[in-house]
Amino acid sequence: MRDVIVAANWKMHTTPADAGELATTIAARTREAGVTRVICPPFVCLAAVRDALADDDPDVAVGAQNVHHELVGAYTGEISAPMLAGLASWVIVGHSERRRDAAETDELIGRKVGRAIDAGLRPILCVGEQLPQREAGEQEAVVDDQIAGALAVLDPARLVPAGLVVAYEPVWAIGTGRNASGVDAAAMAVAVRASLARAGIVGGAEAIPVLYGGSVTSANIAEFLTEPSIDGALVGGASLKPDEMAGIVARAGITARARGLAA
Ligand code: PGA
Repeated sequence: MRDVIVAANWKMHTTPADAGELATTIAARTREAGVTRVICPPFVCLAAVRDALADDDPDVAVGAQNVHHELVGAYTGEISAPMLAGLASWVIVGHSERRRDAAETDELIGRKVGRAIDAGLRPILCVGEQLPQREAGEQEAVVDDQIAGALAVLDPARLVPAGLVVAYEPVWAIGTGRNASGVDAAAMAVAVRASLARAGIVGGAEAIPVLYGGSVTSANIAEFLTEPSIDGALVGGASLKPDEMAGIVARAGITARARGLAA
């Protein structure tokens, strides 16, 4: 049975002075057997969050929000995968805000996934369509292109062993308060696995956890987690609020128990 995962994407929020306390507050309120929790603070807060959680709740994993596609070199302001050693064990790759603001292409994103895997980081590959693409019924084709483009530069035999996770995040749902329906998100999770299979993933696309992201809250999480094809959530805005995270992870615990993951 696939893992149930709730990943918090703090985006450009928190400072090294306050991130550790927020992380431990969330950790204390989200202890649910069988749920994998990941907190992804800004780069400069990784050490603070790692240290706070190490003392308090080492079951919560720490993730970065991005990683560079080269190992080392003249890339001002960038962070490579080996630099994250000891700071993070997960990394978000290809978030739509980076596709938009840093012009990240599918090929570049694929290379980032490869660097993450080389460094032992578990990648969360983000995909999702824009609103006009959804309105034109192109969402599956768009996501298929994103997955094919990223996997084109990767060894398909490495993805399942590396624990690749895909987050389906429709761009029109991110930060807008307008979430996708559970049924639509579930259909896209099925489409994501079909794309992974077409791209030649070795070991079975069924093994890959698919998360939903886009205006997830404690009030709507159940809609996604009742869908067997959806394995958790990538949470943005609500992930900064301990009450919201408590509700989201509590609901994820129900799914984990139903899947027999809560030993
Ligand atoms: P949101 O962000 O929950 O604030 O919509 C999700 C994301 O960007 O991962």
